[in-house]
Amino acid sequence: MCGIVGYIGPKGAVPILLEGLKKLEYRGYDSAGIAVIEDKNLELRKAEGKLKVLDDKLSLEKFKGNIGLGHTRWATHGRPSDENAHPHQDCGGKLALVHNGIIENFQEIKRNLEKEGHTFSSETDTEVVVHLVEKFFSGNLSEAVQKATALLEGSYAIAVINQENPDQIVAYRQDSPLILGIGEGEYYLASDIPALLPYTRRVIILEDGEMVELNRENYRVIGPGGELLNKEIEEIDWDLEMAEKKGFPHYMLKEIHEQPDVMRQLLEKPLRGSEIELPEIDAILKSQEKIEKIFIVACGTAYHSGLIGKALLEKATGIPVEVDMASEFRYRSPLIGENSLVIVVSQSGETADTLAALRHARDKRAKTLGIVNVQGSTIAREADQLLLIEAGLEIAVASTKAYLNMLTAFNLLALKMGDGDIAGNENGELLHLLREIPAQVEKTLLRMEKPVRKAAEYIKNWDNAFFVGRGLDFSLALEGALKLKEISYIHAEAYAAGELKHGTLALIEEGIPVVALLTQESLLEKMISNIQEIRARGGYVFGITQDRFASRVAEEVDFLFKIPNTADIFAPLLGTVPLQLLSYFTADFRDCPIDQPRNLAKSVTVE
Ligand code: AGP
Repeated sequence: MCGIVGYIGPKGAVPILLEGLKKLEYRGYDSAGIAVIEDKNLELRKAEGKLKVLDDKLSLEKFKGNIGLGHTRWATHGRPSDENAHPHQDCGGKLALVHNGIIENFQEIKRNLEKEGHTFSSETDTEVVVHLVEKFFSGNLSEAVQKATALLEGSYAIAVINQENPDQIVAYRQDSPLILGIGEGEYYLASDIPALLPYTRRVIILEDGEMVELNRENYRVIGPGGELLNKEIEEIDWDLEMAEKKGFPHYMLKEIHEQPDVMRQLLEKPLRGSEIELPEIDAILKSQEKIEKIFIVACGTAYHSGLIGKALLEKATGIPVEVDMASEFRYRSPLIGENSLVIVVSQSGETADTLAALRHARDKRAKTLGIVNVQGSTIAREADQLLLIEAGLEIAVASTKAYLNMLTAFNLLALKMGDGDIAGNENGELLHLLREIPAQVEKTLLRMEKPVRKAAEYIKNWDNAFFVGRGLDFSLALEGALKLKEISYIHAEAYAAGELKHGTLALIEEGIPVVALLTQESLLEKMISNIQEIRARGGYVFGITQDRFASRVAEEVDFLFKIPNTADIFAPLLGTVPLQLLSYFTADFRDCPIDQPRNLAKSVTVE
């Protein structure tokens, strides 16, 4: 939530800040702002709305200042407005500060500062920070930042500049990501790596409690105790092209089409021999007989992948698995102990609730495994073991390729931990089928576009839709419904098909769209009975099934999507494709801002 950028160097800061913010807009996009020091004057420009509004505003001015900060906001405290947009300033108007995160004790600090005579001009929690820095500032900005941050509770990455010293930026990280980019005679700051890639691949990822002081000639990273740190510079090998749309109208569609490749990439090493190679989980395998319980904890789409992970791991290992939404996990006092394995799943690796769940598990001395996309993210660094899902940069708020690779990672894990027997199949046969999946995803993409457009034409006119399935298909239905809600704003409910008759069937009316998943052989006839109950009440059913069941299913549904044949446990890997495309085209027909749906952000770093 919220993206921050900073620049100090020989070039004009404004275009660099704007370019960086464009790459971070996925983190929040309700308002944006920049501050630049221009001839020892602090110039601030802010604008409610998407970055484009600020960009247009700035195109009328020609700033030359070569030090500045930028911010793109996802509102937490105070509605989106020019006043609440960052950067924020102190009473004297000399300091400008940007912030990502939440200051939990801001009200108390604000009351005290007001008593001391400070006046506030926004409704944000952030503004207290710049006033605190002002209060402690007596010539040394780093010292003032250190004193101010010592009083803050919550999560925050901040950066601050002082118009009287146009040669310095000071930034601090606590529980919100912050990365320093090192260029040739210039330095950058950003909440995420893509904002730095056009300029440098040499980065330092700051840890909690660390402060960085950027000067024109050098930088200093200062540890929590005030000690100077000598941190390793990391080289980022990401492909910058990933951050472009490559001719697709939206990142989401591009990312859907990248799925065969990212899946191949993830499967390549583990499947190169006759047995699955996953050295990342060797330590877990060594202690597997001691594991009494597995917990999977995540949010949103990642949580949905965990539901499928549970089914696979229980089948494979015989160990009971519980799945929790990360925001609920630690508040229900889960019975975790040394013999628990806690798997946290996250695309961004920065989701606040998931990170808190991981830390809770570590406090309870459980073994932890992160299934994460973003290398170097906090969860990736803090989990005991790490399985990177290698989906590459995912920019669209709606997660697609990361979800698919989370499912793939769970399949690999289950096959590895199951030691050759999962769902009654021999490992060899399953490995063969798994190797085929990327090509089958490709085939499904080709097959689906036309029929999905037709189905989306139908669904786009409805305010409500249902997604039903049983077993693995129910977990997939939950993800299908979330995708549709998130980007098309159509209310969608996912139900275990057998549960409909216990109340929800009352909502089935003439013509209402119902997406029914029928990919599991053992549940096929049960699902067909449930579909008959729906159709008898007027529901219009879109079925998704494997080729081999198509002749049986065709007459039971109004519209049929066929995915290629595979083992039932792998069917969600293919079944997700029509669901993703269905939500995409429905949202497109409704003219929704697909990559940046209202009220949401890609990386949810607040609880
Ligand atoms: C996915 O489409 C959603 N935008 C959202 O549910 C997401 O999966 C969730 O916020 C978790 O994010 P993470 O994977 O980065 O932890």
